[in-house]
Amino acid sequence: MTGVVKVGVIGLGEVGRHQANGVVAAPGATLAAVADFNEEFLSSTVRETGASGFATADELIEKADVDAIIVCVPHKFHIDLCRKALASGRHVLVEKPVTVSVAEADELIAIAGEKGKLFGASHNQLFYPPHVWLKEAVSEGRLARPTVLRLKLAIGGKLGGWRADPDLTGGGLLFDAGFHRFYVARSIMGEVAAVTANLDADDPRGIGENVGLVILEFRDGGRAVIEAGYFAPPGVFDDSIEAVSADALVRIPGLEAHFEKFSAEPELLIFRDGVWSEASVPVVAWPETVARSVANFVDAIRGNGRLAADGAEARRIVEIVEAVYQSSREGCRIEI
Ligand SMILES: NC(=O)c1ccc[n+]([C@@H]2O[C@H](COP(=O)([O-])OP(=O)(O)OC[C@H]3O[C@@H](n4cnc5c(N)ncnc54)[C@H](O)[C@@H]3O)[C@@H](O)[C@H]2O)c1
Repeated sequence: MTGVVKVGVIGLGEVGRHQANGVVAAPGATLAAVADFNEEFLSSTVRETGASGFATADELIEKADVDAIIVCVPHKFHIDLCRKALASGRHVLVEKPVTVSVAEADELIAIAGEKGKLFGASHNQLFYPPHVWLKEAVSEGRLARPTVLRLKLAIGGKLGGWRADPDLTGGGLLFDAGFHRFYVARSIMGEVAAVTANLDADDPRGIGENVGLVILEFRDGGRAVIEAGYFAPPGVFDDSIEAVSADALVRIPGLEAHFEKFSAEPELLIFRDGVWSEASVPVVAWPETVARSVANFVDAIRGNGRLAADGAEARRIVEIVEAVYQSSREGCRIEI
């Protein structure tokens, strides 16, 4: 479409307020409407941005004058709100994970296709410059293809509220904060061929895992090891990534590690030819990666480029995590 894209944001909690700020900052977009059950969140955003406020998602979808909607609510509700928003003829971007199952993602992809609207998920860590650097260094052959990609996640204390309820998250840590590890790994290493997992819950959908060890095997060679757990001391947020290749070891101390002030290391370090050096990448904080994800959505609506994570891409990551749950339950390697 041409002209300014009018955007509505549903859910103004931990991430939704940053999505709203991202709309305000995005060239070619205006924040036209916001919705939240929480009166305080709603009124402060309305006051600061001048957007129209709605007490519920349904009201915004029914009444707001918007071309596009960004959905930032607990996972279980993604399907219902995205379904309604797409059916009403709006482009939709939803926070990760797109849905809690592949079947739900398929339904939304089909509605978006019928309506001719853009649909995708906000995979904000795709916009973190060190992740982009590593992806491009591998794809352009500036770095030998990693044999092992190590992706860590150690969080000091279990995230509470709805995130502790598997019925609302769709599972445990891997369906929540751990989800970023999967799409970042796939963006760097390409398509996943098989997964093997060991979790601390027999029934991750029902109980929600707190610890997970996962091996991803890639179609073009190499493996990723995801090591995620809640049981670190208070103050820890380790989301570091290391790529081990024949000619270098690349270390990214972590997007959220910096945001949570757990790490003060440079954003990207390389050990090559016997010495460590810092690679020069723009320093971008976590909220800016969310804003860049919003800008990508707006650009795609305006015909300037493609969504970084369209429905099919977002669905594939859910499929991989579903395979992880199956692998752990059945105690075997799953080819996907
Ligand atoms: N990309 C990231 O780094 C990141 C970080 C945090 C959360 N998230 C994702 O964002 C989504 C939301 O998580 P959060 O932590 O912001 O949750 P949150 O609980 O902080 O905020 C959700 C907000 O949505 C509102 N809400 C829920 N249903 C509503 C409805 N029907 N109508 C109006 N308001 C409604 C709630 O009142 C709440 O304020 C999840 O998918 C989560 O995984 C992503």
